[in-house]
Amino acid sequence: MGIEPHAVLRWDDLPDGPALVLLDQTRLPAEEVELVCTDVPALVRAIRVLAVRGAPLLGIAGAYGVALAAVRGDDVVEAAGLLERSRPTAVNLGYGVRRAVGAYRAAVGKGAGPERAAEAALAEARALHREDAEASVRMARYGLALLDELLPGPGHQLLTHCNTGALVSGGGGTALAVALGAHREGRLRRLWVDETRPLLQGARLTAYEAARNGMPYSLLTDNAAGSLFAAGEVDAVLIGADRIAADGSVANKVGSYPLAVLAKYHHVPFIVVAPTTTVDLDTVDGASITVEQRPGSEVTEFTSLRAGAAGGLLGAPAGAPAYNPAFDITPPDLVTAIVTEGGVVSPVTGVGLAELCARSSQVTIS
Ligand code: MRU
Repeated sequence: MGIEPHAVLRWDDLPDGPALVLLDQTRLPAEEVELVCTDVPALVRAIRVLAVRGAPLLGIAGAYGVALAAVRGDDVVEAAGLLERSRPTAVNLGYGVRRAVGAYRAAVGKGAGPERAAEAALAEARALHREDAEASVRMARYGLALLDELLPGPGHQLLTHCNTGALVSGGGGTALAVALGAHREGRLRRLWVDETRPLLQGARLTAYEAARNGMPYSLLTDNAAGSLFAAGEVDAVLIGADRIAADGSVANKVGSYPLAVLAKYHHVPFIVVAPTTTVDLDTVDGASITVEQRPGSEVTEFTSLRAGAAGGLLGAPAGAPAYNPAFDITPPDLVTAIVTEGGVVSPVTGVGLAELCARSSQVTIS
């Protein structure tokens, strides 16, 4: 059974006041535990530890966070700043925050008091949540049509990295939603799931989603991917994105770029699936994308998965310095296609991307 969107993230009017209730992704797959955020600082902590994560969901969480501050009567601008700064790479976070702030300000501009303005921010967050669910359905449709075109015949073996399913979206997600569609149509022979070091979003979350959906999958360590390509066991790579620059460069979970290089060498399609809210035409190229650097302890210890956990099983000498970028950048010439809810860009060019965004229904922020 798939994951219900309201279990992943929902607004709840609890007896003690409103809250954003999240499925704590740091505890999966061992425990399904809800995290109740009653104010923005709590939500910011949840974002930083990756209890809530993945670009589209970060956008939705950011929008609800602004609404939460507004409903509580907190300083909306300060809350928006805290939320936007909590993680730097996924552009959706800032997009969601700015949409809710825009709705709040527009309401104030029309003479609304704080209560009505807060309602406007909440309505905007709900709208973004719905739009993201609808975008998932459309991306899956376009993605499946593209697979049809690129991979004639049944029995696809698809490789994915990180987690891009219902856990990162108001709906079915991005890349994993395409793979799930292929499974439901009987076309998925196997989903290869990269474990995704260091925080194991593939092993913990994608495997969890794949199992719940009855998908045939196998886990592999990230560095096993090369031998899999060499053996001809990968028909296409499907990944998501955290930010797509104007030239088509793709920031996604660290380890995506090496997969793109492998895919190019082995003539395997490398497909990025992301809503247009992930496209950032204001960032000119990949070099201009800020890549989040995370604590080295995530690499040297094996317990940093649990929110707030300190210390644990050492995987390196105590105090070992570590390099831990959360994302890497894949240049556009390594990307076969970008699939969005508004259509497919292939080959990936800045012009193609700009045209698609101009046609798409992305809401302009006032
Ligand atoms: O650090 P995370 O877990 O938030 O990283 C998530 C990813 O890199 C996803 O692949 C990306 O956000 C796309 S999700 C549709």
